[in-house]
Order: sequence, then C-alpha cells, then structure tokens
Amino acid sequence: MNYHSNIGRHTAVVGLQWGDEGKGKIVDVLTAEHDVIVRYNGGANAGHTVVVEGQRYALHLIPSGILYPHKMCVIGNGVVVDPERLLEEIDSLRSRSIAVGDNLRISDRAHVVMPYHKEQDAALEDYLASTTANASGSLAIGTTRRGIGPAYADKVCRSTAIRMGDLLDPAYLRERLRVICKLRTNELRAMGVSTAPLDADALAERFGALGVRLRPHIVDSVYELHGAAALGRTILFEGANACLLDIDHGTYPYVTSSNCSTAGIHSGTGIPGSTIGRVLGIMKAYSTRVGAGPFPTELNNEIGSTIRERGREYGTTTGRPRRCGWLDLVAVKYSAMVCGATGIACTLFDVLSGFDELRICTKYRLADGSLSDRFIPDARRLEGASPVYETFDGWSESVAEAGSRSALPDAAKRYLARIEEVVGIPIEMVGIGPERSQTLVAQ
Ligand code: GDP
Ligand code: IMO
Ligand code: MG
Repeated sequence: MNYHSNIGRHTAVVGLQWGDEGKGKIVDVLTAEHDVIVRYNGGANAGHTVVVEGQRYALHLIPSGILYPHKMCVIGNGVVVDPERLLEEIDSLRSRSIAVGDNLRISDRAHVVMPYHKEQDAALEDYLASTTANASGSLAIGTTRRGIGPAYADKVCRSTAIRMGDLLDPAYLRERLRVICKLRTNELRAMGVSTAPLDADALAERFGALGVRLRPHIVDSVYELHGAAALGRTILFEGANACLLDIDHGTYPYVTSSNCSTAGIHSGTGIPGSTIGRVLGIMKAYSTRVGAGPFPTELNNEIGSTIRERGREYGTTTGRPRRCGWLDLVAVKYSAMVCGATGIACTLFDVLSGFDELRICTKYRLADGSLSDRFIPDARRLEGASPVYETFDGWSESVAEAGSRSALPDAAKRYLARIEEVVGIPIEMVGIGPERSQTLVAQ
C-alpha cells in the first residue's frame, strides 16, 4: 500500500470554536477505532481532558490516544515541544500506570520551546498589557505564556531555531545556542527584562540531557507515519487549539501561532489531506473563549456565569475562567467550511439543561445595519458585528443518563436539529458528560 491506496482512510478531529470544545474526549473515544494518533500543531498551550471511570487526565503535548495500550501516538513536525513539560507529562502518566515507551514517537523536526521563548512571550504580553493602544484597551493577546509564539517565530526565522533532532547533537546544540543566547539577551533587555546574560553552555547541557532522555522517542515521523499507513493502519489527527485561533483563518491577531484548522495537517505531519475522509468538527453546545479578542455572543451576566459554573469552564492549561456565551453558528459554520468538516460532535450538551430559554446566533448585524451570515476572521471588523438570535425553549430534565439521541427531551432535539440545519452537516456525536462513556453516537 502506498499513499494512493490510503485516499480517504484517515480521520481528523478539529475544534470549530475558540478551543476547549472537548477534542481530547472525542479523540479518546475515536482512538478505539484507529491505530495511530497524531498531534500536528500547537504545543503545551493545549489542554485536552480525558475522563475514564472517574480518573481525569489532562494532556498538553502527548496525543489523547495514549490511554489505550498498543496505539501509536505521534507528536508531528508541526508541534512546538517544550521538552521539560513533555517529560513531566510522561512521568505523570507513568506514575498512573499508563505505559509510555515505544508507543510515543516525536518528530526530529518538531521545534523546541526554549526557556527564553517563555520569557519573550511573558515580556511582550506584560508590555502590551501596560499600554492602552486602542479604544478596546490593550493589545495583549492573553496568551498561555507557554512560549508558543516566539518558538514559531524562530521556526520561521530559521537561523535562531532549535529542533528536537538538534538535542541529540551536543556540539551543534552548544554552537547554535552560543549565537542565539547573545542575541536573545540583548532582545530581552531591549524589552525591559533585566536578565543576566543567558548562559549558552548551561542551556546546552540542560537540553542535551533532555535529548538523552527523549532520544528513544525521536524519529523521522514522516516516514514512520507513511510506513504505518502503508501497513494498512488508520491515522487519527488530533487538532490542538481551534479553527478560530488559526493563524490564517482565525480572529487575527487574537489567535495562536499555528494552523490549528485542518490546514495544518499536511504541513504538520507530511500526510496529504487527500488521505483524510472524515473530518469531525468539535463544537460545544454554547461558546467559550479564553484570553482576549472579539466574541460576539459573549454573556457578561448571570447566564454567562451560570454556564461557566455548570460547565466548569476554567482553563485546563492556565486555570483561567473562560468567557462564556450563546452558541454562535455563524462562527461554527465558517469553521466547518474552512476545515471541510464532514460531521459534528456537539459536546457539553448536558450543561444546557435547566435554562428556561436558549439562544443561537445565526446571523450578524453589521455596523451599517445590514444582516450577514458570514463570519469575519479579523478582530477589528468582527468587533463591529452584533449577534442576531433565534430563541429556543429550554428543557429542565438532565440528559446525562440519556441512552440515545432519540431519548432526549423534544426541546433538546429541536436545538440539535437546528444546528444541523444551519451548518448543513450531521451531528454524529453528542456529549452528555465528561466521561468517555457519556457520548451519544449516531447509529
Ligand atoms: P479540549 O481542549 O478541546 O480537549 O477541551 P478541554 O479538555 O480543555 O475542555 C473541555 C472540558 O469539558 C473538560 O473538562 C472535559 O472533561 C469536559 N467535557 C468534555 N465533553 C463534555 C461533555 O459532553 N459534558 C461535560 N459536562 N463535560 C465535558
Ligand atoms: P486547546 O487545544 C483555548 C488561546 C490563548 C490565547 C491565544 C494565544 O486546549 O483547545 P498562545 O499561548 O497559543 O500564544 O495563546 O490562544 N489558546 C487557547 N484557548 N484552548 C486552547 O487549546 C488554546 N490554545 C491557545 O488563550 O487567547
Ligand atoms: Mg483545552
């Protein structure tokens, strides 16, 4: 088998909102029917939660398929890897009797997040937060401060980047770091950070040692993946972050620094998009966002707080309270279009029980008074759009024990049916609780 015979065999899971849609849980469910699970973008800014029989696992860099023994998990070349965090994650899984060994492969071409990237990230955010550059306040993005933007910037810059494979060559690593550290010290100082000169030799030793520990996992992931596919294995791509945070297709500049839509799969793994037959777009039954940036359906009121408390909407990575609002289908439909979604998983549906009335945004009213059903992937222009809602009856019953979609209250069925009608693709899964088992799958 070569890549021609793999046309349409693989699956992608991608977030259709601003992240935290429950991708980890859905990847975990789908892992049962795939062989290889691959992260293609982002880094430790992601926080993917899987709950199995009351045990909660938060994954940041390791694919959410790791909980199944005998599945291969791959960190693709498009990911930016913080080796210290990765090792912490490996150790934490092992301490909970989850095997991490030959089942974890890391691309030798994935870029390394270095400590100075995190300092740069924080320094820029602090500087921006201290300015009031425009009418909507500061220009700070509200990043996770995990060094994501600076690490991707170095990747694009080329001459100041370090890749996972470089950690295995101590002399080369030291030589590169000597140049980079000089530059970085000056840059950090120019940003007002009173740092001692970055010590290239100490960093080279520290990261060389991390390389020694990670060496068994570091491979040419492109050949590994094609090799597995050639043996008939199916691949599940796990998107981190989400389409509306995509560097090209999101609410720029309030986005992350990678292609988190399906656009990132080919570049971030070397597997051509034509091999993906199923794209499952993940959306919450409402909307949330962490960090700054426009959010047309945001509810800065009692209803927003109720959603936050019922949905436990606090960041998996940073613990920050998530901003909450009504479901925005203009945004979801746009993401589904950009990602080529073939189906939807509607998660956190149980959180909507108990509201008298629910709203779904299906259009925007623009600054000139006209109506539009187009999303606006530009922060400044999106600020000028206000949501136009359709109102739905709520339901009081808990759905957490429902055995199938047909067993849901009528009002709940109408809400789901309207989503399918507006977005134009089927809902294949409905999440009715955080547990692996609390997932209704369309027959
Ligand atoms: P991800 O980043 O897309 O993987 O999502 P996160 O893990 O950051 O956030 C989703 C949160 O919702 C986690 O706490 C999950 O355990 C939880 N979750 C996922 N699906 C459901 C669901 O259907 N119902 C409820 N109540 N919680 C869910
Ligand atoms: P998962 O995979 C929610 C947001 C940050 C910030 C912006 C840029 O768990 O869904 P960054 O640190 O990437 O430079 O921050 O993007 N962000 C996320 N929000 N879930 C995520 O990942 C996110 N990854 C990045 O809050 O607004
Ligand atoms: Mg998350």
